[in-house]
Amino acid sequence: MIRVDHLEKRFGKKVAIQDITLSLEQGVYGLLGPNGAGKTTLMRTILGLYKPDGGQVQWDEADARGSGFSFGYLPQQFMSFEELTVQETLAYFATLKKIPKLERDDEIARCLKLVRLTGEAKKKMGALSGGMIRRIGIAQALLGNPSVVFFDEPTAGLDPEERMNFKMCIAEIKKRATVLISTHIVSDVEGICDHILILNSGRLVAAGTRKEIEEIARGKVWVVPAEARGKNEDGHWHLINVYEQDGQEWMRVLSDEKLVESEPAQPHVEDGYFCCIKGIGGERK
Ligand SMILES: Nc1ncnc2c1ncn2[C@@H]1O[C@H](COP(=O)(O)OP(=O)(O)OP(=O)(O)O)[C@@H](O)[C@H]1O
Ligand SMILES: [Mg+2]
Repeated sequence: MIRVDHLEKRFGKKVAIQDITLSLEQGVYGLLGPNGAGKTTLMRTILGLYKPDGGQVQWDEADARGSGFSFGYLPQQFMSFEELTVQETLAYFATLKKIPKLERDDEIARCLKLVRLTGEAKKKMGALSGGMIRRIGIAQALLGNPSVVFFDEPTAGLDPEERMNFKMCIAEIKKRATVLISTHIVSDVEGICDHILILNSGRLVAAGTRKEIEEIARGKVWVVPAEARGKNEDGHWHLINVYEQDGQEWMRVLSDEKLVESEPAQPHVEDGYFCCIKGIGGERK
């Protein structure tokens, strides 16, 4: 278990994260927030890559001392040496992770299979596409079967099939690991996360199960014919989606008050997220 207590990190005068208190146990956590919310900073401060300016991070001593303890990290900007092959790149990370030499090749093969790049092992990193490099980044995070894995925007640049494959990988490891996944695309984490954490302007504005995040938006989600837009210009509402149904264009919006010509709709996780970010529904800002 990881306990985060009143954590703060500043860059000069800029407060990147402040007063973050949470705990991470076994399971999958989705870390959601818009650009600049502090997701990367929070991950790096928990992992000890940044020294906190306030508060603390405590790793469960039993975990940290146990022989099976290790962690994996996919940075938002995963860099690699262009001249190394895929196999050599993963061997390099396996060495850093102190995976015994005898197990190294099998472990690399296992992780390459997970990201479906077995056939590219001999290719140079410089010859891979952006999405493939991202998948090698995922593979290196999984090397050694770590009990804690942080992925910073793992699905950025992945095509729909590979997004789905990533979800399958997570479903496989969640039974034995603590996994934290940052993203600003709610649908990427919606199906796989047990818990959701929402960051905005460096603060943790909501934390809960998917159901609990949905409930934040209960009574605030409306569908309105797009043509009724003009009649609702004065209201405080946030547009979630525009779609066509039955030959008509509809808007899905969040609002504290019922809009002219609107009908209530069932809340989704994304609605709860936007309520937190856009300050719909009370004090959240
Ligand atoms: N090394 C740094 N030096 C100065 N400011 C930084 C640094 N890293 C982050 N920041 C600032 O801290 C805030 C949080 O940044 P962070 O990268 O953690 O956000 P994020 O939620 O990961 O955003 P994104 O979705 O764009 O990746 C931003 O205002 C950013 O400009
Ligand atoms: Mg980031």
